[in-house]
Amino acid sequence: MIIPVADIQQHIDRVIDDVFASLPQPEHLSSDERRGIIARYTAVLEGNFIYWMTGAFLAVKTDVARSKIIENLQEEVRDAHPLMMRRFAMAAHAMPTEVDTLAVHDRLTEVRLFIGRLSAVRIVVMMAFFEGLIQRFMPYLAELARLQGSSDMEYTDVHGVCDVTHTQELYRALQAEMALAHVDGPVAKATDLFEGVGLLRRLITDIISRSNAARRTSDPQVAA
Ligand SMILES: [Fe+2]
Repeated sequence: MIIPVADIQQHIDRVIDDVFASLPQPEHLSSDERRGIIARYTAVLEGNFIYWMTGAFLAVKTDVARSKIIENLQEEVRDAHPLMMRRFAMAAHAMPTEVDTLAVHDRLTEVRLFIGRLSAVRIVVMMAFFEGLIQRFMPYLAELARLQGSSDMEYTDVHGVCDVTHTQELYRALQAEMALAHVDGPVAKATDLFEGVGLLRRLITDIISRSNAARRTSDPQVAA
């Protein structure tokens, strides 16, 4: 069974809508809760986005997909996006602590192991979801940082714009990879196809969870 790319995009857009409907209002959060969201987001994104995109590159088999992913990776490395991410966190006084890192550890591990299976179509579906999500998440992240007293918005400014293109490119890459999968054998069932989307969504839930911030404040070792 072949699932049309337009249907995949529609499903992903619905998941992104669901994620946004679940976001707490920045002004309703405590300063520590806002700091925690920025810190956990940084703990995940700074060291993993290029890793995941590299996994996508290793997994895909078509030239159109490879060239789109390479363009993305070149921009990430050439413009030092991890450095941009770190500066954003530093300016908001939200560098990840050990507790922030551990709060996302389990679900980040699941995503890493999923990427390691190098399943081309599933990874490209996950990255398309992520690019679409990041682009829409940027105004929210910027507002959290602003409320924390930061004015360094380079990371959110750059990603609120450029990732619109990345999303479109990834859907074209997905189209090519799915066409190849059709030639090589049956494409995965819908539940399999969105495996990475589900894992990433759960990771994002841990990033935005207020209970992670509450754990931090109640942890005497961290307070010390
Ligand atoms: Fe980036």
